[in-house]
Amino acid sequence: MARAIVVIHGPNLNMLGRREPEIYGAMTLGEIDAALAARAEAAGANLRSFQSNHEGALVDYIHDMAWDADGVIINPGALTHYGLSLRDALAMLKSPIIEVHISNVYRREAFRHTSVVAPVATGQIAGLGWRGYMLALEWLLDA
Ligand code: DQA
Repeated sequence: MARAIVVIHGPNLNMLGRREPEIYGAMTLGEIDAALAARAEAAGANLRSFQSNHEGALVDYIHDMAWDADGVIINPGALTHYGLSLRDALAMLKSPIIEVHISNVYRREAFRHTSVVAPVATGQIAGLGWRGYMLALEWLLDA
């Protein structure tokens, strides 16, 4: 079981709840992080969450915090589609990485169909709303 889990949220995800709710739902990022933390605590795991709108800050966080994690959940936001320094930072990690998208990126605009993160991720969940994060956590807790 993964005991130290890191959740990383990329650009614009701090606006969840207000941001295009018909696509991304009504849950705020704080509510999602709280639900994840409660589930992890109930399972005896330690979960930390981090959000940034800046690719370099996400890379720094991976160097500093995700390095020692047993599992990483990441929604890279739009960096999914072009964030090569984020991809390279994730590629260094030994732990499983689950890429999560709230929306089904494959039924949206063509630029969302490519993920530069997917080749370094263990798996991907897309289109299941905020519950995708919870399913990723369940997988890590079971891994
Ligand atoms: C997203 C999908 C991305 O294409 C978009 O840029 C986001 C959110 C999702 O969770 O569905 O910011 O990663």
